[in-house]
Amino acid sequence: MSTSALTLRNLEKTYADGTRALNDVSLEIPIGDFFALLGPNGAGKTTLIGIVTGVVNKTGGSAHVFGTDIDTAPSTARRHVGVVPQNVNINIFEKVIDIVVNQAGYYGIARSVALPRAVQILKDLGLYEKRSVEARALSGGMLRRLMIARALIHEPKFLILDEPTAGVDVDLRRSMWDYLTGLTKQGVTILLTTHYLEEAEQLCKHVAIINDGVIITKGTMAEVLALHDGSTPRDGYTGGRLEEVFLQLTHDKS
Ligand SMILES: Nc1ncnc2c1ncn2[C@@H]1O[C@H](COP(=O)(O)OP(=O)(O)O)[C@@H](O)[C@H]1O
Ligand SMILES: [Mg+2]
Repeated sequence: MSTSALTLRNLEKTYADGTRALNDVSLEIPIGDFFALLGPNGAGKTTLIGIVTGVVNKTGGSAHVFGTDIDTAPSTARRHVGVVPQNVNINIFEKVIDIVVNQAGYYGIARSVALPRAVQILKDLGLYEKRSVEARALSGGMLRRLMIARALIHEPKFLILDEPTAGVDVDLRRSMWDYLTGLTKQGVTILLTTHYLEEAEQLCKHVAIINDGVIITKGTMAEVLALHDGSTPRDGYTGGRLEEVFLQLTHDKS
């Protein structure tokens, strides 16, 4: 039995146009972790997530989810994973409850099982009152939460979120982070990407920083924060220590 939710070894991705998006990426996410993958735009975060969730073909290396090789047993690997993509990919003319319940069908879960589950998840995420409206009536923050609900319907052990709080206001962002922390307490492993470094600093156990397709540092949050060189913040700087480390390591490319 593997002790890792995700193991990436020497992962490579070169897109058809020659863009080298991932370069020898190795990473291990322990079971039960709250893991932040950070990096400037274009660093390779979404590509990495795409490989793990089977929507991008890697060009080298290996990926295991709970010990299952994504190449040899892709459907088993995928069953362990729930994904909240960076871009909203919901049919906005469908009703909220249907979006969540129909997703269960992809995993062969009976409607009679999926329905009460969906009701509970929508309640937990504060969307139950909206269950019968079409998704186009939801705010941006609600759509993000709906994508989380949809990602959880098959009760995955591993939840991957690509910038789940982008464009979400402060209150909602906070409740979303609380919700995700609650999931980790129930044993769900979380990998997320975010630009909100102060929140990641407070909540995540492990962190990796990726730049130009290369992992430039990884470790526990304390280890990564210890890389801070003690230099004084720049004028007008208001972020936390993780943000300073991030800027030092990525040469302010973000
Ligand atoms: N389908 C694609 N074809 C070619 N290049 C791509 C494609 N998708 C992403 N890229 C490139 O790969 C690099 C990494 O992109 P991405 O994984 O989206 O980064 P991030 O999510 O960190 O912003 C970027 O240079 C991006 O332009
Ligand atoms: Mg991205």
